[in-house]
Amino acid sequence: MEQRFEGRTALVTGAGGGIGAAVARRLAAEGAHVAITDISSEAAERAAADIRQSGGKASAHRLDVTSPDDIARVVAAVEAEAGLVTMAVTAAGIIKTYPFLDLPIEDWNRTLSVNLGGTYFVFQAVARRMVEENRGGSMVGIASVAGRGAQPQAVDYGASKAGVISVVRSAAVALAPHHITVNAVCPGIVDTNMTRAIHDDRARIAGISAEESLAKKLSTVPIGRLQTPDDVANVAAFLLSPDGNYVTGQSINACGGLEFD
Ligand SMILES: NC(=O)c1ccc[n+]([C@@H]2O[C@H](COP(=O)([O-])OP(=O)(O)OC[C@H]3O[C@@H](n4cnc5c(N)ncnc54)[C@H](O)[C@@H]3O)[C@@H](O)[C@H]2O)c1
Repeated sequence: MEQRFEGRTALVTGAGGGIGAAVARRLAAEGAHVAITDISSEAAERAAADIRQSGGKASAHRLDVTSPDDIARVVAAVEAEAGLVTMAVTAAGIIKTYPFLDLPIEDWNRTLSVNLGGTYFVFQAVARRMVEENRGGSMVGIASVAGRGAQPQAVDYGASKAGVISVVRSAAVALAPHHITVNAVCPGIVDTNMTRAIHDDRARIAGISAEESLAKKLSTVPIGRLQTPDDVANVAAFLLSPDGNYVTGQSINACGGLEFD
């Protein structure tokens, strides 16, 4: 494999989960030191051990992305251990299913705080150090096609992902003079725990099985198969790499043809 990230340090949030772990594996396979961060320290440790076993460089850190203090602590710890963070990927995310009329404010606040605040404050903390050191860098948010269309059963989630698409545009313009690119990937229906949980919930509400619920959704995807976490990691790696250095402020649909705008 090419070594596009040799000598660079990356911080990935939610890297104990399906997509974050795949991004982390890919960056490590191409030579980066990867800081695996997650609110679950066990999941972070597992993902980091997996990378080290394959000969990659990885460290594990517990990080709750809703806390700017926690983010600052982890960014400093990673820099002390592995050098300046010049790549960041925000994959920490949550979703719950509620009928539109029933979403409680606590869930609205939590989803916005993890998915949207957790992206902005990680970008802010990592970019601050890149700007101070004048080294440039690249950052990617994991948004979603859910941020493009209507989400009547996850209005908070859809709003959080539309927010990520907006933050990416603002960050790209603010940070371009500092040679930092900022983009997002909008995946479709990915084979992870999150997708399984969504279809368990939706199936219960619809009175069908989880398999039927997922099959119904998949029938709307032109490519016709479930997306793998590696399908998402491929696009994130391109955007982070020198190959993507003239792309900024974009949110790329990587969704098997599910969405176009
Ligand atoms: N699965 C899909 O179909 C899909 C589609 C589009 C976008 N996404 C997005 O991709 C990202 C990753 O999702 P996934 O499918 O890998 O789900 P996942 O549940 O496997 O992983 C999410 C990870 O985020 C972590 N997390 C949750 N709250 C956190 C917090 N406060 N601080 C730090 N970490 C926290 C979890 O512990 C988990 O490891 C999410 O932002 C999700 O919204 C997923």
